[in-house]
Amino acid sequence: MERKPVVAGNWKMNFDHLEATYFVQKLAWTLRDANFDFKRCEVTLMPPFTSIRSVQVLIDADRLKLTYGAQAVSVTNQGAFTGDVSADMLARLGCKYVLVGHSERRKYHPEDDANIVDQVRAVLTAGMRPILCVGESFEERRQGIELEFAVGQVQDVIRDLSDKEAAHMLIAYEPVWAIGTGMVATPESAQQAASAIRSHLNEVYGETVSDRVRILYGGSVNASNATQLMQEGHDIDGFLVGGASLDADEFATIARLTS
Ligand code: G3P
Repeated sequence: MERKPVVAGNWKMNFDHLEATYFVQKLAWTLRDANFDFKRCEVTLMPPFTSIRSVQVLIDADRLKLTYGAQAVSVTNQGAFTGDVSADMLARLGCKYVLVGHSERRKYHPEDDANIVDQVRAVLTAGMRPILCVGESFEERRQGIELEFAVGQVQDVIRDLSDKEAAHMLIAYEPVWAIGTGMVATPESAQQAASAIRSHLNEVYGETVSDRVRILYGGSVNASNATQLMQEGHDIDGFLVGGASLDADEFATIARLTS
């Protein structure tokens, strides 16, 4: 089954609402000048909460073909939860995707597989699509259990999801040791992980679902490694890009190489 690739830019804690406005205009201009075909690849942006509105207004006003989402979500939906942001609030801002389980959230916040399951449900219930982030640390890779570890993280979260809910998800394989380090995974190891995840989805849900779920690679993706990762990653359907997504020219190039 042909899956439309997606290149997602995780801005992390970068670009306030003014910088976001400038960046989106520059990215839109760069993609337009490159005659980018959005039918061949989706380009989506994950701003910090405070910049989502700026991104939404610009995309809506100029009818840009970009989509956008959020980097995190609260499992509760309203009430006395200081500092939290609910899935409904994000959906009302037009968010299409929400990252769940990113390794930096698991590291710096009390987020574990149980809490992430609730986040996935909250995102789906609000009509958005969760991007479940999984991936091993150096230690799991040293022990040679990286595939079991990543598949286990997927298994823990999707175990009670219906076929329809699972088909609505995206999964980002992001080996923790590759994030922000410049040590990109080899195309072979990235493909092995994506293939193991897709095989697990097939075991649990069958081909109808496993063929639909887009599996992204993340971890030091840039314009010089994107092509080989896509060419050799038969089960890789795009990228979740961090650092390189903060440069409009490079992010546009990654999107072009992915389309
Ligand atoms: O979510 C994507 C991010 O974790 C990858 O970061 O800077 O290695 O592309 P980076």
